[in-house]
This record gives sequence, C-alpha cells and structure tokens, in this order.
Amino acid sequence: MRKVLVIFGTRPEAIKMCPLVRVLNERPGVETRVCVTGQHREMLDQVLEVFDVHPDVDLSIMQKGQDLFDITLAILQKLRDVLRAEAPDVVLVHGDTTTAFVAMLSAFYLGIPVGHVEAGLRTGRMDSPFPEEFNRQAIGLVATYHFAPTSHAAEDLLREGKDPARVFVTGNTVVDAMRTTVREDFSHPLLDWIGPRRLLFMTAHRRENWGAPLSRIFQVVRALLLAHPDLAAIYPVHMNPKVREPAFEILGDVPNLKLVDPLDVVACHNLEARAFLCLTDSGGIQEECAALGTPTLVLRETTERPEGVATGNLRLVGTDADRIIAAVTELIEDPAAYQAMRNAQNPYGDGHASERIADILENEA
Ligand code: UD1
Ligand code: UDP
Repeated sequence: MRKVLVIFGTRPEAIKMCPLVRVLNERPGVETRVCVTGQHREMLDQVLEVFDVHPDVDLSIMQKGQDLFDITLAILQKLRDVLRAEAPDVVLVHGDTTTAFVAMLSAFYLGIPVGHVEAGLRTGRMDSPFPEEFNRQAIGLVATYHFAPTSHAAEDLLREGKDPARVFVTGNTVVDAMRTTVREDFSHPLLDWIGPRRLLFMTAHRRENWGAPLSRIFQVVRALLLAHPDLAAIYPVHMNPKVREPAFEILGDVPNLKLVDPLDVVACHNLEARAFLCLTDSGGIQEECAALGTPTLVLRETTERPEGVATGNLRLVGTDADRIIAAVTELIEDPAAYQAMRNAQNPYGDGHASERIADILENEA
C-alpha cells in the first residue's frame, strides 16, 4: 500500500484538496494522511468543517501579520520531524502558496517524491502574482507527478521539458468541490438583503495589489455603487489587516454594499452562482465563476488562468479606474456583451479530477 501525505495550509488549498482527500480515503490501495500547516487559521478551519476533514497533524504556524520569512521558517522547521515520522511514499502539495513551496522543499531535502496538484499555471512574470509564480515554478522543478488542471497547463509543462509520462490532465478539483457546495435550494440571510437587485460579488487580497492599487479598486467600486443604487454588492473581506483596514475605511458606509467576514465556502460558491457580475483578484474565484457562467472582471494585470479569458467568461481589467468603470458600465448597459460572457463554456473540468488523481496515485509505479 502507498502512503500519501497531503499537505496544505490556506483556504484555497483546503477547498481544492479536501475533495481529493475524501476520494483518497476511499481507496484501498492508498493510506492517506493529512498535515495542515495552519498558514491560515479561521479561514482554513471553516473549510475543514464544511468538508468534514480532520487533519492528522496541525503545525498551527499562523501569526497575525506574518511575513514570508515567518511562514517559510516556521513550516520548514516543523515539517522536518513530521516528514521523518510519517515517512510517506509521496507528498502531495497544491498550487502556489508558501505552504506548498516549503512542503515541496522539505520533501525534496528528504528525498520524498512530490505530487503537484494544479500544476502548470504560469504568467511567466515573477512579480505577478508575487510570490506565487516563483512558488509554482519551483515546485514544478522538483515534482514527480504534475497534475495539470487543463491541457493548456499541461502544454506549458511540456514546453518546460517535463517528462510527458509524468504530466496528467485531470481537470481542476475546484469543480469537484462545487459539486457538493452549489445547491439549488441554497438559502441565506444575505439573499434576503439582496432581494430582486442584481448582485455584484467582489473579493480582493493579492499581495501585489496591497497599498495604492487596492485603494484605487475600492474608490472605483464606491463610485460605481453610488452611481448604480439598483445593484447590491457583497464583499467578504479577507482577514488580512492590510486588506481589511482600507476596505472598511473606503467602503464602510456605502448603503448598497455589505462588507462581511469571510464566508463559508458553501455560501461563497452559491453567491457566486447567483451573481450578476463578479470583481475579483482571486485565483480560485476566476475558475469558479468561469465554471458557473458568472461574468467576471479580473482585477489584475496578468492571469495564469487564460482558459477562462479565451472562452470569454473572464476579462482582465487590472486596477486602473477607467478600465474598471468602462467594463462594468458596458456589462450593465449592453445585454449582448453581457450574455456573451455568461454563455461562455466551462474550461476547468467535469468535477471528477480527484478520481483521476487518485487513480494515478493508486496505479502508477
Ligand atoms: C495566502 C497565499 C496566497 C493565497 C491566499 C489565499 C502565500 C504567500 N500567499 O496569502 O497565495 O492567494 O493565502 O487567501 O502563501 N489571517 C487571519 N486568519 C486567517 C487567515 C489570514 O487572521 O485565517 C490574517 C493574518 O494576519 C495573516 C494575514 O491574514 O498574517 C495574511 O495571511 P498569509 O497567509 O500570510 O497571506 P495571504 O494574503 O492570506
Ligand atoms: N472563498 C470563501 N469565502 C470567502 C471568499 C472566498 O470560501 O469569503 C473561497 C472561494 O470560493 C475560492 C477560494 O476561497 O474557492 C479562493 O480563495 P482566495 O481568493 O483567498 O485565494 P486564491 O484562490 O486567490 O489563492
């Protein structure tokens, strides 16, 4: 039997790894263990509760206001003993967080093979997203198994010279997650507050947007909402003080906007599904909205998710005020442009990515 140690630590990794953990737990050929770093705390625990996943090991490293050194050092130091004690045959990491990078590095130092879930996403720019582009490229250098969510991501890996026998197109496990979270009969007090109004759903948290770009985004959203009282906006604010402070300062008194604490993943996915429009710099929300058919304006200059731009569901608008205003106004005033975005096809998978990854882990030598 193969022993697989799944390591993750932030909200988005948990949302995309929990469906896989649940599938692996059912496989007789695999012994599955889960280690969370606790890079996030409340936002991670919310997800573990929804998916009923109970980690075997919790490194509990989060400190309020942690920087990249704090996260890296704390995880590296604690993982040495965990990996020695667990002695897994494979370590599975996800995506591009510092948790994923340091887990890969720790496994590499001990000669343990690494499987990379959501492999092959690239912008080719080390400063955007920062430090995620470095993290995922570094994981790609070491990984034995590259689980690419799309054929586009797989092609990028092959272009970098990865062994074709080790690159697998699986779909994105976020679509697996949405098979359990998105419900026709979803009810929530926020739906009552929205009423018949059109919902604008927004999030923002990226490091490269901290400071002036984030303030600019908030000023634009404020102006747009005051100009369109017929819209109702919901913004679940990330727990990072670098995001919360300007968000509450600039947007705190807009009557048709609710600033709320991070939503549990069920509420988040169902509100995305009901939104008229989404504004976000999140990676996962780009995929979710593209899969759900919710038109989405991406508040970034680059994206590693070009599939959704190609199908027409996502549009890159950056953080420039005029571009954001022009795009929102067009979608409000031009039903044909709006419908073209809404009808775009889902490029991120069929909701069975976890089974494909489990098949490979169970059967590959
Ligand atoms: C991290 C990831 C980013 C991912 C994001 C998802 C890195 C370098 N960044 O960024 O790729 O998109 O998670 O949200 O790995 N906090 C809490 N409670 C929580 C979570 C966060 O209080 O449950 C606060 C803490 O003050 C913490 C701060 O938020 O210091 C930032 O968290 P951190 O993990 O350092 O960075 P993120 O911006 O969340
Ligand atoms: N999400 C959530 N509650 C929220 C905001 C986001 O559950 O209040 C989910 C969202 O559906 C997506 C993931 O968190 O699955 C995205 O996380 P985030 O934007 O923090 O990180 P990224 O994907 O950009 O790394």
